[in-house]
Amino acid sequence: MIHNTLKPYTHIRYAAFLIVVITVFHFLVTAQFHGVHWIHILLAGAYLIPVLVGAVAYGRAGGLLAALIVGGLYLAHLLWSWRNSPMANPDQFAWLAIYPIVGLVTGSLVQESRARHREHEAFVEQSRHTELINGITGLLTAVEVRDTETVAHSHRVAELAKKIGKELGFDEQTISNLFLASLVHDIGKMGIPDAILFHHGRLDDKQMSAMREHVELAVTMLLEIPQTEDIARLVAQHHESPDGSGYPHGLKADQIDPAAAVLRVADVYAALTEDRVYHGAMTSQEALEAMGKLDGVQLDTAAFAVLKRIIHT
Ligand SMILES: [Fe+2]
Repeated sequence: MIHNTLKPYTHIRYAAFLIVVITVFHFLVTAQFHGVHWIHILLAGAYLIPVLVGAVAYGRAGGLLAALIVGGLYLAHLLWSWRNSPMANPDQFAWLAIYPIVGLVTGSLVQESRARHREHEAFVEQSRHTELINGITGLLTAVEVRDTETVAHSHRVAELAKKIGKELGFDEQTISNLFLASLVHDIGKMGIPDAILFHHGRLDDKQMSAMREHVELAVTMLLEIPQTEDIARLVAQHHESPDGSGYPHGLKADQIDPAAAVLRVADVYAALTEDRVYHGAMTSQEALEAMGKLDGVQLDTAAFAVLKRIIHT
């Protein structure tokens, strides 16, 4: 079916109304008086309007169906109103061929034009997506020059987050946003001084608050790339906790995007199972046990339950 911007059935109602009005006039105008012959010709031509409406609304099928309906009614009119002079006007019968031809040709043109429009839309969408991916790849490359560990971590988080998102039944667009957000969730660390980013041991309060700025820095960088609003929203929430103790805004569980909650769970698991300057890598089991203590408090329960399932299988 061809989509259009009018409400469903608007075209059908419009075509039906025209067919009824034109048919009534056909039978009302006398066939006996030669002076009104031009009105019959006009009404025969007017039947083309519902045929065009059908073709514009539903393509070839709509044009053909409308042509069959008006053709049937016109034939009935010819056989009834002109019954005493069969074939008196053979040109009238030509309309029975003209209606389906016009319906099919117009329907084909409409379908062709809509197919081209869809192709163009798909091309524009694809170009936007390529622009987005190029922007994100550029940001990652810039991070990698300084901090290869963060990029390797982000790739692991992205793969894991995607698996959890799929298990949770997220739609394709959300999974794509989640994957890209996971890749760039820590790009803000580019703006963190070396003394803090590569610090050995615990960070003091001042260093910690500087480190936390990586979230807002990442959002600022991302929003420089067109079409990243949804991805930036997930990145903005990747350190928020269900109990409201996270940062930067202290959002509560119901204010956190479910995809951001997945990103957080994948991020924490990946971080715990990697060697860091301030801790050695935990085993999967140790990481899940440590995370179990944060379940529902700092980690989303649904996302964590899926993580456990994935790791155990
Ligand atoms: Fe982070």
